[in-house]
Amino acid sequence: MKRIWKYIRENIKIYLLIIILLLAVDAAQLIMPMIIRSAINNIETTKNIKLLYSSATYLILFAFMIVSARYIYNSLIRGSALNFDYQMELALFKRYLSLPDSFFHTHEIGDLMARVNNDTRALRRFLIMGLIAAVDIIFLGVSSIVMMVYLSPRLTLLIIIPLMFLILITLFVSPLFHKAFRNLQDTFGEITTRIRESLVGMRVIRTFVRENFYSRLFNEVCTSYLRINITLGKIIGSFDPSIMLLVNISLLLIYLFGGRMVINGKLTLGTLVAFSQYIQTLSWPMMAFGFIVNLYQRANIALKRIEEILSTPSSDELQKVRIYPKLEINSLKVKDLFFHYPDAKENLALGGINLEIKRGEILGLTGPTGSGKTTLLSLILRIWEPPSEATFLDDYDITAIDLDSYRRNFAYVSQESFLFSATLRENMTFGRPMASDEEILKFAKLACIWEDIEKLENGLDTIVGERGITLSGGQKQRVAITRALIAGNPILILDDPLSSVDSETEQKIISNLREYLKEKELICIIVSHRITALSWASSIGVIKNGKLIEYGTHLELLEKKGYYYHIYRQQYLEGLKALNNAS
Ligand SMILES: Nc1ncnc2c1ncn2[C@@H]1O[C@H](COP(=O)(O)OP(=O)(O)O)[C@@H](O)[C@H]1O
Ligand SMILES: [Mg+2]
Repeated sequence: MKRIWKYIRENIKIYLLIIILLLAVDAAQLIMPMIIRSAINNIETTKNIKLLYSSATYLILFAFMIVSARYIYNSLIRGSALNFDYQMELALFKRYLSLPDSFFHTHEIGDLMARVNNDTRALRRFLIMGLIAAVDIIFLGVSSIVMMVYLSPRLTLLIIIPLMFLILITLFVSPLFHKAFRNLQDTFGEITTRIRESLVGMRVIRTFVRENFYSRLFNEVCTSYLRINITLGKIIGSFDPSIMLLVNISLLLIYLFGGRMVINGKLTLGTLVAFSQYIQTLSWPMMAFGFIVNLYQRANIALKRIEEILSTPSSDELQKVRIYPKLEINSLKVKDLFFHYPDAKENLALGGINLEIKRGEILGLTGPTGSGKTTLLSLILRIWEPPSEATFLDDYDITAIDLDSYRRNFAYVSQESFLFSATLRENMTFGRPMASDEEILKFAKLACIWEDIEKLENGLDTIVGERGITLSGGQKQRVAITRALIAGNPILILDDPLSSVDSETEQKIISNLREYLKEKELICIIVSHRITALSWASSIGVIKNGKLIEYGTHLELLEKKGYYYHIYRQQYLEGLKALNNAS
């Protein structure tokens, strides 16, 4: 709740104004029964018409005041709560952007979305209703009791018992409510996850004819959501009527005993009516008590879930040492690099890798799938944080370099090319939004995608991704290569960037790339399964089971007659066969 208090403190002026308005409304509500009392007593005894009119005028004035004050404080309080909501959503989103990759492996996306949507809403509700209820409970509740005691201590004693029940009910109901609500939030997260997963995997579900299975699965989650919600509804549904019942019982007692007192001349009729009015005034703060307990519990759970995210250390905060060296990007070194994923402690993903790449050099990497190539690249890119003293850029331990300034040196094409729902131009200039169309053209030609773009009606302005046209795997890869090249950073990392491109186009791209790299003196690491994409590299490494089993130039590796030679022969023979078939 600290965050909420802090927010209230920061906006103390608005909140003071709101409280003053709330108090004014409460005061008016307290005074009105007294006016009614004097009006009725006047009707009964003095029978003064003028006094009656003035009572009526006062009532109208107060009623008008209540309406205007409520309007003002409602707008203020809602505005302020929405503003808090906005700040929380922004803070969450910023935190998501800064959290390390490992975080997203341990959290469901649906749950992360629910925290931004649902949990912030629970906080907003509390901020709106909580304050109103708190002020009303304290001020309206206490002062109506005081007024009742003032009017008739005996009648007040009479309704103490039903009021005690009221508090008992609230205390009994709130833990039930608490549990049901927590369940509800968790199930909601699950539903979001299921929907998201099914929508993303729709094609797979359909082609494997698993619609029924998935709809059953979804049905189960939704049924339990429904069940919990109904339970919750029952709890809420029995709570309000019980309160009303108690209020009506109190009224019954008052009219019965108070009525007798009026008949016996011990109480004026006006006082009796005023008293019953106070019971009704009191019923709101009483209900609000249960209300605020619930809202508070909801908000508390929600805030805990939000705090959990906000207090997860970001990649930046995880970094103990931070240096800002002036990098020249002369060499990238990997020394005795061991690594295992956090959830697979007994499995070494990398078991002691040693490599060095100098400026202007190209390192080719190959090896069976699952051998650790992508892992090695992720460590170099610090998508996963490598152990310290194992990777060096210009002889600086990369884990010590400020993350942002470190990553700025890289351009990356990941194994799965991801494009945003945006135009091709926006996707391509993602790393350098100011890039000109000439530059886009140059690199799109280099990556052999320009011909495809030219054929599109809207050219570079074509929207791709989820909301636009679907590109083929090979087209996406080439757009991703263009994006990396336009970024123009000194280290280029390509993770199997041409796997879906036909071999002829691949050859073209490789030869374009080769020329470009030579001219710019970049450092480049390229992963591929095709010899033709690797043979030109300054050095080639073969990774198997997390180990570098072969390392050298194309010719050296061929002489070694190991894994590299083996795939070379295989692909060479396949090529010959294809040639034979063609002729
Ligand atoms: N996020 C992860 N968590 C746990 N294990 C992983 C993760 N990513 C990859 N691995 C495992 O690490 C090994 C190396 O994978 P990867 O580097 O992707 O191989 P490659 O790119 O050579 O095909 C595999 O056994 C894979 O299952
Ligand atoms: Mg891989």
